[in-house]
Amino acid sequence: MVSYKELGLVNTREMFAKAINGGYAIPAFNFNNMEQLQAIIKASAETKSPVILQVSKGARNYANQTLLRYMAQGAVEYAKELGWEHPQICLHLDHGDTFEVCKSCVDFGFSSVMIDGSSLPYEDNIALTKKVVEYAHQYDVTVEAELGVLAGVEDDVQAEESHYTKPEEVIDFATRTGCDSLAISIGTSHGAYKFKPEQCTRDPQTGKLVPPPLAFDVLDAIMEKLPGFPIVLHGSSSVPQEYVDIINTHGGKMPDAVGIPEEQLRKAAKSAVCKINIDSDSRLAFTAAVRKVFVDKPGEFDPRKYCGPARDEMTKLYKHKIIEVLGSAGKAE
Ligand code: 13P
Repeated sequence: MVSYKELGLVNTREMFAKAINGGYAIPAFNFNNMEQLQAIIKASAETKSPVILQVSKGARNYANQTLLRYMAQGAVEYAKELGWEHPQICLHLDHGDTFEVCKSCVDFGFSSVMIDGSSLPYEDNIALTKKVVEYAHQYDVTVEAELGVLAGVEDDVQAEESHYTKPEEVIDFATRTGCDSLAISIGTSHGAYKFKPEQCTRDPQTGKLVPPPLAFDVLDAIMEKLPGFPIVLHGSSSVPQEYVDIINTHGGKMPDAVGIPEEQLRKAAKSAVCKINIDSDSRLAFTAAVRKVFVDKPGEFDPRKYCGPARDEMTKLYKHKIIEVLGSAGKAE
């Protein structure tokens, strides 16, 4: 048993309370490799933003859960080296699907876990979530749960259709499970193709897809039922068109990739939404930068010469999200 507190990590409780009161959201960035982690920590240290490092099932399969945890431990020291005296870094399990996987993360130094029972019948979701909460809280590890279904594909999480969270269920769910935060479904979805072209309109000038707005009425109804309760938005990449364009003009093929407009996320961040999950945008930044090097310098074969620019591009992206979208800069001085 390793406590995250010995590793210099923090859970989400205080982060979320401050974020709700301050009208901003904490960035939750997924990581699978060293360059991504370096970029997340550099951006957070330079902006003094609290940050949540997320480990998905796909990341655990790709990079190994043990290695990722040691990398997060190293990230705390790296943050201090960068001059961030009191880093506020949370290590979070993204989309845990069984009690056992959540327990293994709690036992191994994660400071927060998500148990995603959203695909289960309501009572089964409650029973599973409650079991994880009871275990995690013994070690002061915070627990995120999910109600409602997000469409899209993210690593091993996929659903054909979304179902908005039902506001009439949230009080019962939060009270009976004791969860610390709730991921809801209001129209976001995982991946770089969040909406089918037929769900969007087209901007007559640019020809680009314009997605339908998020269901802020559902969010408002949830906040009315659970005032001040931490709400989480998954699937919140904006799919920046400049990256899609670089990819498409440098040998890639990503037609009709579309995300959540940043102004809608800015609006959500000012409410009880206090954790915003972003993964796909960093994949796009990485891929765009690598493709560009491959096309511009076809003789290049040193991975540092293309992973380095990819890391710089991701750092730029994370800083942009922190400063311009989530409003979390300067909240972890
Ligand atoms: P995106 O695919 O929109 O980046 O969402 C990531 C996410 O929600 C991770 O849980």
